[in-house]
Amino acid sequence: MDGKSTIKWNPFAPDYFNDPYPIYALCRQHNPIQKDSFGNILLFRYRDIAPILDSTDFEVSSLVTYFESKESYIFKNSPQCPFLAKTTSKWLMYLNGDIHRKLRIALGKVLFSYDFDRLIQEAVKDSVNHFQDYQELDLVHFSKYFIFHILGQFIGLKDFASFEKVVEYSNLAARSQDIFVSKQMYLEINQCFLWGKGLFSETGFKAKLVKELDGFEFEEDDYYSILAVTLMAFFETSKDNLALTLHSILSNPSLKEYVLNADQKAIKLVSEECIRYTSPLQFTVRISKNEVIIHGQQFAASTRFVLGIASANRDEEIFESPDEILPNRKVNPHLAFGAGAHLCLGALIARKEMEFGLKPMVEFLQKFNIDSTQPLEWGNQIFMRTLERAMVKMH
Ligand code: HEM
Repeated sequence: MDGKSTIKWNPFAPDYFNDPYPIYALCRQHNPIQKDSFGNILLFRYRDIAPILDSTDFEVSSLVTYFESKESYIFKNSPQCPFLAKTTSKWLMYLNGDIHRKLRIALGKVLFSYDFDRLIQEAVKDSVNHFQDYQELDLVHFSKYFIFHILGQFIGLKDFASFEKVVEYSNLAARSQDIFVSKQMYLEINQCFLWGKGLFSETGFKAKLVKELDGFEFEEDDYYSILAVTLMAFFETSKDNLALTLHSILSNPSLKEYVLNADQKAIKLVSEECIRYTSPLQFTVRISKNEVIIHGQQFAASTRFVLGIASANRDEEIFESPDEILPNRKVNPHLAFGAGAHLCLGALIARKEMEFGLKPMVEFLQKFNIDSTQPLEWGNQIFMRTLERAMVKMH
C-alpha cells in the first residue's frame, strides 16, 4: 500500500500458470498499484479497474504501432515477410475513435445476422455424438471441438483449415497480444498469419463483411485482419471458458447436481458465475489520455495501465467468497467481458454457448470422473488463462 511492500506480481514464479490467483490476492491486499520494469502501472483491485474500463479518458494501446516498431528487430536476418502489423491492423480491441466505432458497428451487424441459437444447439448435439463412445476424453479437446463446429459453420473456412490448424492459428493469434513474447515466438506467429491468408472462404461471413464495409476502401489484407480477430476472439476465449467451467463442475459434486437440476433461469445465473470465475482474458491494457490520480498517486498522461481483470473478478470487496463458484450468485458485476467502449462484442454469443451447452454437456459428461492420475496442464500465457489438457475417464 505504501509502495514499500515486498509483494510483487511475478509471472515467472514457479506454479504461476497453475494458479495465478493467490498472487493476485496478495497484490490486492498488500500492493494493489505496482510499477513494472517497463514503467507500466499494474492494477489489481476492482475499484481501480472498473472505472478505467468505463472511462473515455483512457484509450486502448495500438498493437500495430508496437509491431511496427519491433518488426525490424524481429525480422532481422529472417527471410520471412513481416506480417504481424498488417494482420493485427484492424483488431477492434486495439483501435480507438471513429474507426473503432464504425468497424464495431459493421462487425456487430455481420455477427448478429447469424442464427446462433440454432448453430450452438446443433454443435452441442454434434459434439455429444462425436464423443459418445469415448472411454476417456480431454475436456479441452471436447471444448475445442464444440467451438470449432460453431465457428466453421458461420465464418466459412476453406477445406484445408483442419481442426488442428485452426486450433494452432487461434492460439498463436492470441499469443501475439501477450507480454514477454520471444522473438522466436513472434516468427512462428508471423508464419502462421501468412499461412492463414488463404484460410477464409470468399462466401458467407466475408461477403457480408465486404457489404457492411462498403465505402471503407479496405484492401484484402484489411478484411483478412478482421477475419483473423473474429476467429481468435471467438475461439480462444470461448473454449478456455468452457473447458475450465466443465472441469470445475465435474470436480464439484454439488455443483454438478445443481446444473443437472437447473431450469433455464438457474442455468443463466450459473453460466454468468462460471464466466466470472474463469475470466479467460486475465489482463487488458489502457493508456491515460490525461494526467490521472489513483488513490493519491499521480500518473502522467500516456501512462500505460495493465488492468488485472481476473484479479478484479475475485476481489473480496465486491464478491462474497470470490474463489468459489456460487451458482445462484444474484449480484455479479464481473468484468470478464470488459466494460465500456470495448465491451466484448461476442458476449451474447458466449453466454448462449453456455446457456444452450452447459446442461446437455454435463448430462453427457456425468458418466466420467476427473482422472486424478493425469494432472491438469496449463498454457504458459499471461494475458489469457488457457487449459491445455484436462482428462476425464469413464467410471
Ligand atoms: C467467454 C468468452 C469470451 C470472453 C471471456 C471474452 C472477453 C472479452 C473481453 C474482456 C474483451 C474486452 C477487451 C478489452 O477491453 O481490452 C473482449 C472484446 C472482444 N470480444 Fe470477446 N470474449 C469472449 C467471447 C467472444 C466471442 C464469442 C466473440 C465473437 C466474435 C468475441 C469478440 C470480441 C471482439 C470483436 C472484441 C473487441 C471489442 C472492441 O474492442 O470493441 N468475444 N472480449
